[in-house]
Parts: sequence; C-alpha cells; structure tokens
Amino acid sequence: MSEDETAVDAVMDLQLDRAHSARMYDYYLGGRTNFTADREAVGRVMAVFPAALVAARANREFMHRATRFLAGSGMRQFLDIGTGIPTSPNLHEVAQRVAPECRVVYTDNDPIVLAHAQALLCSHASGRTAYAEGDVTDPEAVLSTAALRDTLDLDRPVALSLNALLHFVGDDQGAHKIVEHLKGALASGSTLAISHATWEFAPEAMERVAEVYRSAGTRLHFRSREEISRFFDGWELIEPGIVPSSKWRPDDPDDAANVTDIEAACFAGVARKL
Ligand SMILES: C[S@@+](CC[C@H](N)C(=O)[O-])C[C@H]1O[C@@H](n2cnc3c(N)ncnc32)[C@H](O)[C@@H]1O
Repeated sequence: MSEDETAVDAVMDLQLDRAHSARMYDYYLGGRTNFTADREAVGRVMAVFPAALVAARANREFMHRATRFLAGSGMRQFLDIGTGIPTSPNLHEVAQRVAPECRVVYTDNDPIVLAHAQALLCSHASGRTAYAEGDVTDPEAVLSTAALRDTLDLDRPVALSLNALLHFVGDDQGAHKIVEHLKGALASGSTLAISHATWEFAPEAMERVAEVYRSAGTRLHFRSREEISRFFDGWELIEPGIVPSSKWRPDDPDDAANVTDIEAACFAGVARKL
C-alpha cells in the first residue's frame, strides 16, 4: 500500500491491503475508486483472461439495457442488490431518465460502496433513491431495512436486479434459496434481472480467474447455464431468455457481434412473476 492508502485505511478500515471485488470491478470499468491491491489482482486476472475488461463492460451495458427495457415496460420500483461503486450512468439514472417517478433502492455489503452512496445519491435528494447497507446472504434483513420500506411498496411490482452478484455467493451459502426468498417477497408483476459469470465458454481460463480471486481473498462461484437458469424457476423468462450478456436485446446487432461469448463470460436474463 502507498502512504496515502495506509492513511485512508486507518481512518475508514476499508481493508485496502487486500483486493475487493467492488474495487476490482471499478478498475475494470475505468473508475478511480481502486487501490494498489485491487489493481494488482486485476493485472493477474488479465494475465489469464485478457477479455476481463470487455466482460465487465458487457455486463454493465446489460444492466443499462435491462433497466431501460423494464422502465419502458412500466416498472416503477427497482431494488438493486450488489450495486457496486457508482459508475455513471447508474441504475437510477437509467430508470429515471425513462420515467422520473421511478423509485430505486441500492444495497451492497462493501464499506467503500457505502462510503460512495452519498455521491451516488447526490443528485437525488427527493426520496426516490435510497441506499441500504446489506448482505444478500441475509435476504430478510435486506428486505426489512427502513430505507427500503420507506422507498418501495412491496405490495406493488418491484424490478429486482442481481447483476454480477450471485457468483460471489456459494451453494454452501444457499445461493438459490436466497433468491427464492427474495422472489417470494415480491408481488406478482415483479421482475428479476440476473447477470452471472459462467465457466461454460472458457473452463480453463475461468478456473485460473477463480484462483486469482481466491488468492486475493474472494471466492468466485462460476455456474453453468442450467444452474443460472434455476434462479428464475417459476417465473416467466422474457425474450430472448438466458443468453450471453452482450446478446440480451442489444441496441445494435453489431454491438453483440463485437463481443464473443468467451469475452462476455456471463449469462444474463430477465423474468417476470406471473
Ligand atoms: C461486480 S460488482 C457488480 C456491480 C453492479 N451490480 C453491476 O453489475 O454493474 C459486485 C458487487 O456485489 C457486491 N457484493 C458481493 N457480495 C455481496 C453480498 N453478499 N451482499 C451484497 N453485496 C455483495 C460487491 O461488493 C460488489 O459491489
């Protein structure tokens, strides 16, 4: 760690001496909220999977398109778990650009995301956008926060986003049960958007990526398409179903063609509760 980083860490206890997934993702996306340990870990990921930056951007663009599509189809409440460090445009900006009355609650368990929550919400002091610190492995606690209850009406449809989140939650932590719990709390007409890293397109490279994350202190759980599709069980998949992230309703077919499935490295889909 540099002297500056040691000083920041002493004040905020952000564990800057080890890589964090939120800060690594920020670095992939070209952000500035990342530190030496994060950048070194990204360097090791890039050595075994050079398309990591393309994958991160394709994932973020899926979030933009899915949010625009859902707000355009009438969704007015959004719950985004595993929000990440703000990267413009953020989900509330995309949704509220379509319909300013959209209400958005963000949740993450990383202290640096909390530290940036103010920046995330600065343009939205109107009560339509809120941040609740929370860990998805305790879904009931996430659903019970005052910020969520004050902002969203769970008796009405909610668009739940779990983007690039569930590959940080193991089967031993009950990943599928957690998602079922969240789905069960939502009204009919609610939607679920998921993007999720998979080993299917490049098994050896993903094994090596997982090893880099493991050595940096983060467990990654790549899943097959079949395992990812089980998160949507019981809800109706919206066209085109579960596809590589760049192929989910691309704005321009050339955008999708420019990213191979190996580069995308994630499946993505959106489903609706009947
Ligand atoms: C790769 S980022 C994805 C950010 C954003 N959802 C996107 O797709 O652009 C993953 C985020 O999930 C958060 N995260 C990881 N495990 C979590 C957990 N158990 N509960 C809540 N958030 C978690 C990390 O802190 C990080 O900010």
